[in-house]
Amino acid sequence: MDNFTFYNPTKLIFGEDQLSAIKEQLPQYGKKVLLVYGGGSIKRSGLYDDVVAVLKEAEADVHELAGVEPNPRLTTVQKGIDICKTENIEFLLAVGGGSVIDCTKAIAAGAKYDGNVWDIITKKAFASEALPFGTVLTLAATGSEMNAGSVITNWETQEKYGWGSPATFPQFSILDPKNTFTVPKDQTVYGMVDMMSHVFEQYFHHTSNTPLQDRMCESVLKTVIETAPKLLNDLENYELRETILYSGTIALNGMLSMGARGDWATHNIEHAVSAVYDIPHAGGLAILFPNWIKHTLEENPARFAQIAERVFQVDPAGKSDKEVALEGVEKLSAFWSSLGAPSRLADYEIGEDKLDLIADKAMAYGEFGQFKKLNKEDVLAILKASL
Ligand code: NZQ
Ligand code: ZN
Repeated sequence: MDNFTFYNPTKLIFGEDQLSAIKEQLPQYGKKVLLVYGGGSIKRSGLYDDVVAVLKEAEADVHELAGVEPNPRLTTVQKGIDICKTENIEFLLAVGGGSVIDCTKAIAAGAKYDGNVWDIITKKAFASEALPFGTVLTLAATGSEMNAGSVITNWETQEKYGWGSPATFPQFSILDPKNTFTVPKDQTVYGMVDMMSHVFEQYFHHTSNTPLQDRMCESVLKTVIETAPKLLNDLENYELRETILYSGTIALNGMLSMGARGDWATHNIEHAVSAVYDIPHAGGLAILFPNWIKHTLEENPARFAQIAERVFQVDPAGKSDKEVALEGVEKLSAFWSSLGAPSRLADYEIGEDKLDLIADKAMAYGEFGQFKKLNKEDVLAILKASL
C-alpha cells in the first residue's frame, strides 16, 4: 500500500424520512440559507415543498437559486455567488443530483473568494475556505454528497474541470432512497454506470498489496451488477433504490482509494467530451471506459484479468491474462448495453470532426492518468475507437 491520510468530515444521514434532521443541523450555521436546486424535478416530486416546510420550521430566511443545469455552468455558479454576497448567506442547501451539489460547492467556495471563481476551478487559486453547506441527494451517481469534488463547465470556452478542497465537503448529506424513486430509467442507468466507473478508476493502479481494497471495489461492482437489472424493472422498489444509493456513496467517498492512487484518465477524457457536446457524464463513460481498458491492457494484464475473473466470472482455464481481460471487457460492454447505456459516440451523433479539439481539451494540464500516462495520441486513439 501507499502511505495515506483519510479525511472525510461529512455527516451521512441515511434512510427514510430524515428531512427533519435539517432542523437539528441548521442552528449551528445560521439562518440565512440559499436553497439550490435544478430544473424542476424536486417541484414535481413534492420534495421542494417538504424541504421548504422544514426550513420554515427552522425559522430560516430562505433565498433560492433554481435552474442548475446538468453539467452545471459557471454562469449559474456566479449567480449563486452574487446572491450569497448581497444577501450575506450563511449556509447553502443543495437539493438535487451531483450537478446541483457540485454547483453549490463552487458557490460556497466562490462566496469566500474575492477574485473570479474560475481561478479556483482551474486551480490557479486554492479554496482555503467555503461557506458551509448541506445536501439532500435525489440521484445515486456521483458520490458528490460525501466527497469534496465538484465539476463545473465554462460553456463559453467549452471547458469542464474537476476541482475540490478540504473546505468543500458537505457538512451533512441526507440520503433517503424514496427521494430517488422518481429518477427516470435513463438517469438511473447513467447513475449506475457512473458509480461503477468510479470503482474502475480506483481499481486500476500499480500499487502492490491492496487485497482488502480490491475486494471492497469488487463488492461494490458485484452489488451494482446484481441490483441494476432488478431495479430497472421496479423503479420504486425501496430496497433496490437503497442498495444503489449506498453503493454510489461508497464508490466515491474516498474509502476505496485508501492506500492506492487511482487512474482517473477516462473521467478526464469524458469531461472533455461533455465540455464540447454537453452529453450526460455517464453516457460518455459507458462509451469510453471499455476502450480505455483495451488501450491500456498491456500495462498490467493480470490486474484486468483479476477483475474479469472475480467480477465478470470469466473462466481463466487455458487462457492468457490478456485473453481473460479482453473477455472481461466484452462482458462489461454487454452488461452496460443490456441496461440501455450507449456504447458509441455515434449514439450521440458525435463524429470525427471535433475529436482533435476534444483531445486538446483533455490535454489542458498535460499528460494524465496514474495507471498509464496518456498523451494526445493515446487520447485520440481511445476517442477513435469509441466512434
Ligand atoms: O435538474 P433536475 O430537474 O433536478 O433534473 C435532474 C437532471 O435533469 C434529474 N434528476 C435528479 N434527481 C431526480 C431527477 N429527476 C427525477 N427525479 C429525481 N429524484 O436528473 C438529471 C441529471 O442530474 P445531474 O445532477 O446532472 O446528474 P448526476 O448526479 O449524474 O451529476 C452529473 C454531474 O456530476 C459530475 C458530472 O461531470 C456531471 O456534471 N460529476 C461529479 C463528481 C463529483 N462531484 O464527485 C464525480 C463524477 O465523476 C462526475 O464527474
Ligand atoms: Zn463520474
